Amino acid sequence: MTKKIAVLPGDGIGTEIIAEALKVLDVLKQDFGLKVETETALIGGAAYDATGTPFPEATLHLCRAADAVLLGAVGGPKWEPLDYSLRPERGLLGLRAELELFANLRPAILYPQLVAASTLKPEVVSGLDIMIIRELTGGIYFGQPRGRRVNDKGEREGFNTLFYNESEIRRIGHIAFQTARKRNRKLCSVDKANVLECTELWREVMIEVAKDYPDVVLTHMYVDNAAMQLVRAPKQFDVMVTENMFGDILSDCAAMLTGSIGMLPSASLDKNGKGMYEPIHGSAPDIAGKQLANPIATILSVAMMLRYSFNDAANAERVEQAVTRALDTGYRTADIYSEGTRKVGTTEMGDAIVAALRS
Ligand code: IPM
Ligand code: MG
Repeated sequence: MTKKIAVLPGDGIGTEIIAEALKVLDVLKQDFGLKVETETALIGGAAYDATGTPFPEATLHLCRAADAVLLGAVGGPKWEPLDYSLRPERGLLGLRAELELFANLRPAILYPQLVAASTLKPEVVSGLDIMIIRELTGGIYFGQPRGRRVNDKGEREGFNTLFYNESEIRRIGHIAFQTARKRNRKLCSVDKANVLECTELWREVMIEVAKDYPDVVLTHMYVDNAAMQLVRAPKQFDVMVTENMFGDILSDCAAMLTGSIGMLPSASLDKNGKGMYEPIHGSAPDIAGKQLANPIATILSVAMMLRYSFNDAANAERVEQAVTRALDTGYRTADIYSEGTRKVGTTEMGDAIVAALRS
């Protein structure tokens, strides 16, 4: 059966990196029997400009009907003056919420070829392989009440709510333990239980869920310490699980261990394994249209899609191998360039990966 992929390029470098990912999908279709069809739709600022909303109904319909969603990035300074309800980010957050994509998997792997590209010492990062599991549809991103107001003294106020119920914590907990089981059976739950009641509950529930997984070693860490440990001794981690905003921050931090944020793919899954796949980086408006964007995170997101949504490990491995080989051959976009390698643009990097796939 032909699978349907909804493709949402979005803003900034989103269109450039998605173009490279589509080239990879084309080769898999032509040469390796992958049966997929794609349909493109608007999201984010591009959708706002064309339709007046960052999250058009037609896009939601397409994504609901599709077997998987591939997204580029959203946002840019052009849309910053808009009300929150119209910002590009609402499109992305709306999709995550509407499709109930609560489980966000962000693997941070250091390719040996990129040891020199990391800002950390080789001995600290070489061999790094961490899976960050970020809760994606709850927490402070979505908690009510939220907003801005002026108090009776005429002073402006802003407020957001960090909220989780136990079932939201439990379901991400199960995903995290199951993921740890397939890896090195070590799970670190990150919270701020010394200060925030909501994450005290998080810790309690994680301890309860752990009873179903006696073979996995569960530890707990406060988020400030986790940020420090990620740059001090990142290899102590196998799987990390944390709430939405902590996960947003820690995954950017972990990305830099791998040399560049342009290397990290992600999968956002619902309870049935249906998913949206996107690089963890943003739309990078400052480098858009300059052939500076690294398409690897997006191409690796395609590999995650093949593995998690289409159960096609063979093609997923092909894509991952092709990325490895393009790096072996010395191809580097500007963000991962180091002396002695060959600096190329976005398109050329995509071409190199496609060539490796074909060879
Ligand atoms: C991410 C991004 C998004 C987030 C933005 C673009 C809304 O930073 O996916 O990490 O904060 O979740
Ligand atoms: Mg982020």
